Amino acid sequence: MKVRKAVIPAAGLGTRMLPAAKAVPKEMMPIVDKPAMHYQIEEAVASGITDILIITNRGKESIEDYFDYSPEYERHLEMKGKAEELEALRSIANMANITFIRQKEAKGLGHAVLCAKEFIGNEPFAVLYGDDLIESDTPTTKKLVEIYEKYQKGAVGVSLVLPELIHKYCSLKVEAVEERIFSCTDMVEKPSPDKVMSYYSILGRVVMPPEIFGILESIGYGYGGELQLTDAMGELARRKGVMAYDFPGTHHDMGSKLGLLKANVTYGAKHGEIGEEFRAWLKKFVSEELL
Ligand code: UTP
Repeated sequence: MKVRKAVIPAAGLGTRMLPAAKAVPKEMMPIVDKPAMHYQIEEAVASGITDILIITNRGKESIEDYFDYSPEYERHLEMKGKAEELEALRSIANMANITFIRQKEAKGLGHAVLCAKEFIGNEPFAVLYGDDLIESDTPTTKKLVEIYEKYQKGAVGVSLVLPELIHKYCSLKVEAVEERIFSCTDMVEKPSPDKVMSYYSILGRVVMPPEIFGILESIGYGYGGELQLTDAMGELARRKGVMAYDFPGTHHDMGSKLGLLKANVTYGAKHGEIGEEFRAWLKKFVSEELL
C-alpha cells in the first residue's frame, strides 16, 4: 500500500525554547522568512504525501492560521498589483490536505502519534517530528517511503550522534544491508552507558505500519513518564525488524537555541534574496569580531 499520509507532532511544550515558546510555538519559529513547519510540509509533499495531520495543543493556533488563507494580506497584495507574491502566499494554504487535532496533554511523542490513529486508519504513514529539520537534496521522508515499500518494514531515519551525547537520544542495534541502509532489531530510548547498542539514533523522520498504534496502546509509559514512540518502534523492531536509513544532509534541532541559530545561518547563506549580502556580512563579522 502506498504511503500517502503523514503526521506532524507539534504539541510539545518546547521548554528548551522558553521564553519565546510562550508566544511562538517552536515549530513556527522562523528560518529566515518561513516557519520550520513550512519546510516540513514541503518535505512531505515532495515525498508523495497528500494528507497531513498536524498535532497541536493550546496556544499553537498560529500553525492553523499559517496554513489558511489570509484575506487581509491577499487584498493588500492584490491592490498593490503584486501578483507573484500573492500567488506565493495563497499557495501555502493549498500545499496539501492539512488537518489538525489537539493533544490535550503533552504526554509524549508516542501519545501524540496515537492521537492520529483514526486519521491514519489501516495504512502506513510517515511521521515528521515537528521540530526536526533536515536539509538534504533528496527529501529524507521520500527515501524512507521507498525503503518501506521495498522491504515492507517500518523505516527510520538515523544519524550517528556523538558518544557523549547518545544518552540524550536513542540507540539502535543495526546491521548493514546496503549503502546507508541497515536492518535494526532493537532500540532503546535515552540509553544508560551499558544499554548503548550503537551511536546511530533516530533523528526526526520515520515511516511506520499501522500496527504501531496497537503497540502504542499496549506498552506502558516510559522515560520521563511519557509514552515514547521509540519504545513502540523498539517493540516493532524486536518483533519484525525495521529498516534504518543513514540520511545524507544536515539535521537541525529547531527545539534548541543553537539549532535554530545554525539553521538560520545555513538557510540564510543560501537564500535567493538576501544570501549574498548575508554571506558578505557573516564573513566580515567572523573575521573582525570573532578572530
Ligand atoms: P520533543 O521531546 O523535542 O518536544 O518532541 P518537547 O517536549 O516540546 O521538548 P522540550 O520541552 O523542549 O524538551 C519532538 C516533537 O514531538 C512533539 C514536539 O512538539 C516536537 O515537535 N511532541 C512532543 C508532541 O507533539 N507531544 C508531546 O507530548 C511531546
